[in-house]
Amino acid sequence: MEISSFYRDSWVEIDLDCIYKNVRSMKHFLPETSGVMAVVKANAYGHGDAMVANVALEAGATYLAVAFLDEALSLRQQNIQAPILVLGAVRPEDLKIAAENNITLTVFQADWLKEARERSSFKEPVSFHLKFDTGMGRLGIKDQTEVNELLNMIEEDDQLTLEGAYTHFATADELDTTYFNHQYERFVEMVEWLPVRPKIIHCGNSATGFRFPEKVFNYVRFGIGMYGLTPSLEIKNDIPFQLHEAFSLQSRLVHVKKIKKGENISYGATYTAPTDEWVGTVPVGYADGWSRKLQDSEVLVAGTRCPIIGRVCMDQFMVRLPYELARGEKVTLIGFQGDNNIGIDEVAKNLDTINYEVPCLISYRVPRIFLRNKSIIEVRNPVLVNH
Ligand SMILES: Cc1ncc(COP(=O)(O)O)c(C=O)c1O
Repeated sequence: MEISSFYRDSWVEIDLDCIYKNVRSMKHFLPETSGVMAVVKANAYGHGDAMVANVALEAGATYLAVAFLDEALSLRQQNIQAPILVLGAVRPEDLKIAAENNITLTVFQADWLKEARERSSFKEPVSFHLKFDTGMGRLGIKDQTEVNELLNMIEEDDQLTLEGAYTHFATADELDTTYFNHQYERFVEMVEWLPVRPKIIHCGNSATGFRFPEKVFNYVRFGIGMYGLTPSLEIKNDIPFQLHEAFSLQSRLVHVKKIKKGENISYGATYTAPTDEWVGTVPVGYADGWSRKLQDSEVLVAGTRCPIIGRVCMDQFMVRLPYELARGEKVTLIGFQGDNNIGIDEVAKNLDTINYEVPCLISYRVPRIFLRNKSIIEVRNPVLVNH
């Protein structure tokens, strides 16, 4: 695809070499008995599901994980054959679709399995991972009698297999490990409830993999670290290898003008120029996921930090320039310009949120350009595909 497959001056660049390096480093870091399950839910945390999945698989991941069945089906539609685990809940009536598409489901309620079996008939086998709630309080089974009931239903049905068992930690990214240890011990106990140990046991997200590689059993569910980001600022210094941030957000000045001292900028006229100054308009707004909360934060233009002045609009914002610059000058909202960098952690701090949320927020409206060896290998623009 040509770069001309989008017609606006704003785009996300995904450096797939970064994803590749992060997965390889994790794979080498883990004990040989542990694999990498690449977590590509939420369009790979906003990075692009199939593109990331393919590179992660190439780098040594052997399982993929998503949150919803639709996300798994999207990967299958894009010709991805690798095993896929749906981490979230699936409607009982959709068991058939999962079976037909060879998608592994999470099971955590006996009555769900009963209803799913009653409501759908299909020819294919279907695999499950049993999810234990060890203290996250989100999805997961806690009661041994219910576990036995579930196991019996699976045992009695030739089409159903229990391939795995897992849990999720609530505090693996916190320096205080008390609650983490409590959850881990509970998980070890719960796994003992299973008379036959399933083939795959997993409990770790990125933070667990980085900090407790000896505790992850067969797989790390590798999400945030795969994208080159730290699971929390608290454990940033505990990351055992260099991470490479894959996501950057770029735009261009579409209008440059000089305003006079006392003139105002944007809705509400909240910014008044203190002196005569150069102002540029950038075609990115809150409909692209660039929140109104980012007023007064900085972007990079001509290699220097420039403040966003006035309110961020739906499709545009204004920036104070150091001097007159040409229309078309590149604006970096996230990423490097020369030696200067605005990382996702900085944007997260300005938004008073965590880094996970930032790339997820950058909406489908911003085309994604995928790079390998610094060359564009693909451009995805759902705005045009949907028309
Ligand atoms: C169940 C589950 N496992 C693994 C992950 C990946 O976690 P991380 O992105 O911290 O590696 C998530 C992400 O939220 C999750 O919900």
